[in-house]
Amino acid sequence: MDFFVTHQTADHYSGDCAVAFAFKDTINENRILQSLIELNRFEASEGDTLMLSQVDGYKTKRVLVMGLGEAPLSNKGFLKALKLLSSVMESAKVKNVVIPDINVDGYDDSWIQSTIARELKNASYKIDKVGIKKEKNTTFLEAVNIFSKDNGINDIKKGVATANGMALARELGDLPPNICTPTYIAERAQLLASKYNLKCEILEESDMKTLGMNSLLSVSLGSAQPAKLISLNYSNGGKEDPIVLVGKGVTFDSGGISLKPGSGMDEMKYDMCGAASVLGTMSAVAEMGLKVNLTVVVPTVENMPAHNASRPGDVVKSMSGQTIEILNTDAEGRLILCDALTYCEKFNPKVVIDVATLTGAVIVALGKHHSGVMSNDQNLADSLKNSGMSAMDTVWQLPLDDEYDELLKSNFADMANIGGREAGTVTAACFLARYTKNYSWAHIDIAGTAWLGGAKKGATGRPVPLLTQYVLDQIKS
Ligand code: BES
Ligand code: MN
Ligand code: ZN
Repeated sequence: MDFFVTHQTADHYSGDCAVAFAFKDTINENRILQSLIELNRFEASEGDTLMLSQVDGYKTKRVLVMGLGEAPLSNKGFLKALKLLSSVMESAKVKNVVIPDINVDGYDDSWIQSTIARELKNASYKIDKVGIKKEKNTTFLEAVNIFSKDNGINDIKKGVATANGMALARELGDLPPNICTPTYIAERAQLLASKYNLKCEILEESDMKTLGMNSLLSVSLGSAQPAKLISLNYSNGGKEDPIVLVGKGVTFDSGGISLKPGSGMDEMKYDMCGAASVLGTMSAVAEMGLKVNLTVVVPTVENMPAHNASRPGDVVKSMSGQTIEILNTDAEGRLILCDALTYCEKFNPKVVIDVATLTGAVIVALGKHHSGVMSNDQNLADSLKNSGMSAMDTVWQLPLDDEYDELLKSNFADMANIGGREAGTVTAACFLARYTKNYSWAHIDIAGTAWLGGAKKGATGRPVPLLTQYVLDQIKS
């Protein structure tokens, strides 16, 4: 899919299809279009579409009229319209399209153009069925022309880079867990590094042993797949301390000896979506060539039950020196993240943001709309909230008071790895907070937002838009 900027109104464009946006109770400027709208009893409600052929005054073969409801158009209404537009383009087999000027309440043209590019490109994502060679997606748009008063091409490039990062995250998430192993993720990270000339370091289990990462290593004891700790550095920001992103990379979470129930267990292949999203963000940032320093750290393991797996009751010593009583082997995410978070100190981070499908409890609390955010630095939490709103990939903050931390008390180690039934998302974050005292840190729980189940089963690419926007926002300010 290629993107172009056009400075002309849609009726000047000759090609396959022009889009015409229509609000309720607003007469269309084009009189012929207006009479066709009336003739077809088109009401321009949100979600209404009307495909017209050979409209007088238009040079395109077809005109797609899209209803937007009452003006003004909100950001959410705009997002819905773009998703609908993508699906109509696909079902109507449109090859090239021109998208006219549109106002979105409270947003500037840059935002509008990059959002159009991101959403259309993201809609073209398709996972190959395993064993079937990549076919060219012949039913989808080849060229998109977006109206812009000024140059606009940089905004479009930003949208495309974000969508490409989302595609990487979605692909890694959707791949089956017998293919997407820790070793496979490490190979994909190396590919990304060679594509953009990044520094790449991959620690093997023996290296991690030397560093004292016994908490991380305890999770993969029962697996035939060796654990990896991947780090990638993108340095284009001079002497500034890097933004460090850490992503949970459990390529399959069976629960271990604290085995999960069978139904829906296949979805635990998505337990590496944190890892996938930080790699996707690196891809987006490097593709844009942003003037920043960005490091991503990915602890990746498989959590399996076996004779040599860790048991409930085991005590391990983390890299930080703090000891952990493993009361539930299914609370494994925090066990790999705590060592990765200690490891991050060597990068002298400006901030550290970890991203993880950490708790089922966050789905109970927030559903599938917002990711959960918790932080030891309110400014960082606020920045993430703002970047999330602007990217329409939002977070909702949960508390981190000491009272919750007390639930992690253990009689046999410095802490237990679970806090009981209450406030599961918060106690998981409290556990991580014990390893992040030396820097400004935020934790994003994406268990509800990283993938969809049911008929729409698939990775969403979230929170790549949020993280990419966050990095962009650090440059401007
Ligand atoms: N990967 C899961 C969290 C999860 C569960 C994500 C369901 C998406 C859907 C995590 O490793 C886990 O198992 N967490 C436990 C923690 C509990 C044992 C304290 C959970 O949420 O049940
Ligand atoms: Mn688990
Ligand atoms: Zn997990």
